[in-house]
Amino acid sequence: MFKSKIAGIGKYLPANVVTNNDLLKYMETSDEWIQERTGIQERRYAHRTNETTTTMGVEAAKVAIERAGTTPQDIDFIIFATLSPDYYFPGCGVLLQRAMKMKEIGALDIRNQCSGFVYAMSVADQFIKTGMYKNILVVGAEKHSFGLDFSTRGRNVSVIFGDGAGAVVLQPTEKENQGILSTHLHSDGNSAEILAMYNPGTHANHWSEQKLASFDEAEIGQMFFSHAMIDDGQVFPNMDGPAVFKVAVEKFPAVIKEALEANQRTTADINLLIPHQANLRISQFVQKKLQLRDDQVYNNIMRYGNTTAASVPIALCEAWENGKVKDGDLVCLAAFGSGFTWGSVLLNW
Ligand code: COA
Repeated sequence: MFKSKIAGIGKYLPANVVTNNDLLKYMETSDEWIQERTGIQERRYAHRTNETTTTMGVEAAKVAIERAGTTPQDIDFIIFATLSPDYYFPGCGVLLQRAMKMKEIGALDIRNQCSGFVYAMSVADQFIKTGMYKNILVVGAEKHSFGLDFSTRGRNVSVIFGDGAGAVVLQPTEKENQGILSTHLHSDGNSAEILAMYNPGTHANHWSEQKLASFDEAEIGQMFFSHAMIDDGQVFPNMDGPAVFKVAVEKFPAVIKEALEANQRTTADINLLIPHQANLRISQFVQKKLQLRDDQVYNNIMRYGNTTAASVPIALCEAWENGKVKDGDLVCLAAFGSGFTWGSVLLNW
């Protein structure tokens, strides 16, 4: 059986830099509060009309494909992870396939929020290992700036998130000290609602029983949207930050240890840990718990905020571009987020 190697990696960050002080125009917050609680100094926001989640994914993919020594026509499968797709449906995978003039290959969208890229890598790894595909494009991209509540009501969420994209091309390898060693995926839906965007959805929670009963069949379409839903701000992400924090600092170290133990490695063997950039305080907590040195953990949330499915490939790409990842290095990717879902990927670069 083959292993999967990252043959090429790319990232794309929009040019528009938004500092914490820029957010003061819209909400009551402060640079001090944001830096102290999250570590974030600035983030990028996509161009309002010219950039979408797909176009940013395409830019990252172009770089990854070129660095892999391939062309868009060589790609035989696309996996696109995002929670902020261009359309409710169809997904970004087919939009990227069209934009890059690829063949009529399969395109799969993954909606696993912050752990989306790790899940996507795991799925891609299975296809490569079995020999089904030889050049899989895995993309994580988000345009959060279009779906956040920038009033004081939404400040606990909106200050955290940023836009961007990362992509890798996975190819088979038979080299001993190269490629993905294992992937580990988890979920616990018991707290699904504490980090969620409920609408638009088919749950109909925003209608009272009485109102629902009053709809005839012709009016049933209204169940999806309502004016009240928009007026009440129920169209924005909802997060119980402290509750998320508590679970994240437990699950992150556990899934990293799981990956190490599965491969008879220890934390001392890790050359670089790329944690999903949820919050600098979470990364620091994980580092402390695993007793990792500063040079074993890569963080860039200070500059880009939390880019959800894009954060792991952006950080990995930046670390590689800065010479922090070398051939044969043991690299651990780990993510935790909405669902809750979490996972890890252990690989030799
Ligand atoms: N600016 C200023 N004040 C803010 C604020 C902002 N952007 N957001 C919230 N506050 C206020 C709250 O209203 C609250 O005020 P109160 O005490 O008067 O009621 C106070 O700050 C504390 O709120 P709380 O939510 O308890 O803050 P916190 O210390 O837990 O920090 C998070 C909030 C979101 C930064 C933190 O909980 C966190 O990072 N959690 C993890 C979230 C995460 O990683 N999400 C992504 C998952 S992948």
